[in-house]
Amino acid sequence: MHHKPVRKAVFPVAGLGTRFLPATKAMPKEMLTVVDRPVIQHVVDEAREAGIEHLIFVTGRNKSAIEDYFDRQPELEQALAERGRTHELKLLADVLPQAGSASFTRQQDPLGLGHAVWCARELVGDEPFALLLPDMITQSPGKRCLAQMLDVYNQTGGNVIAVEETTPEDAHKFGIVATGAGKDPVWPITGMVEKPPKGTAPSNLYIMGRYILQPEIFSLLSRMEKGAGGEIQITDAMVHLMGQQPFNAVRHQGRTFDCGAKIGFLTANVAFGLARADLGPELKVELAKLI
Ligand code: UTP
Repeated sequence: MHHKPVRKAVFPVAGLGTRFLPATKAMPKEMLTVVDRPVIQHVVDEAREAGIEHLIFVTGRNKSAIEDYFDRQPELEQALAERGRTHELKLLADVLPQAGSASFTRQQDPLGLGHAVWCARELVGDEPFALLLPDMITQSPGKRCLAQMLDVYNQTGGNVIAVEETTPEDAHKFGIVATGAGKDPVWPITGMVEKPPKGTAPSNLYIMGRYILQPEIFSLLSRMEKGAGGEIQITDAMVHLMGQQPFNAVRHQGRTFDCGAKIGFLTANVAFGLARADLGPELKVELAKLI
């Protein structure tokens, strides 16, 4: 069966990043670097590798560095050209989105992730879209997470959510899904709960920040219902949409690092550094000296 293609991806980057103060006082947390590229670039790379054509950023005040990052830097390019730095010039050209393929809108008040997604409704329009939380960066031996999900979506259609296993002790920090009978790595979702109180999680499968959603989610988000933490939650709108449309969970084959938290960010730098042919061997030696 042919399902409507997923052409657009939404990146909500309007959060305050309080867990990373003072670094995030004057710089968005999405611009912190993992090895030599900003966290947001790693997530955009994943979307582009999956064939996404249009990038939609929901930003907020003090996030203009993100817009500047996805624009040209003529003075820098000229200086590099004068010095014959062709390698660096190519690096810059590779990360520049094609003109017209990136859009920016602002979430005026940080009312929650669901509200940030709702702010993208006019830019998404009436088609399925990918949602990628830019704090979460993924590392996989083969295809990355969104491409794995699109393989499933092309079979199933509907809504697709990537999950990973967490421990019962950590389940209260995340959105958790309940699943019915399926075949690893895909299961139908039968329930969802955002940040379940300790001991009440329906499973140990947590939503790790990658979604393929149908546009009907927007009218449910426009109800502006507040959920966990007094915020407008995407999980609550998805629970409503579950009454009307299928949702499938896909187990991510790879690893996710939560770069919105210090330990995840530090671990990501080590993991991505070790995976690099030009840095890995030397980094390994340095790490061995430290430990
Ligand atoms: P977080 O829970 O990580 O919140 O949001 P935060 O404010 O960014 O960070 P801390 O907790 O203060 O350190 C999860 C994702 O949702 C986005 C964030 O940018 C992040 O990608 N978000 C959250 C919004 O865009 N708007 C919101 O109102 C809330």
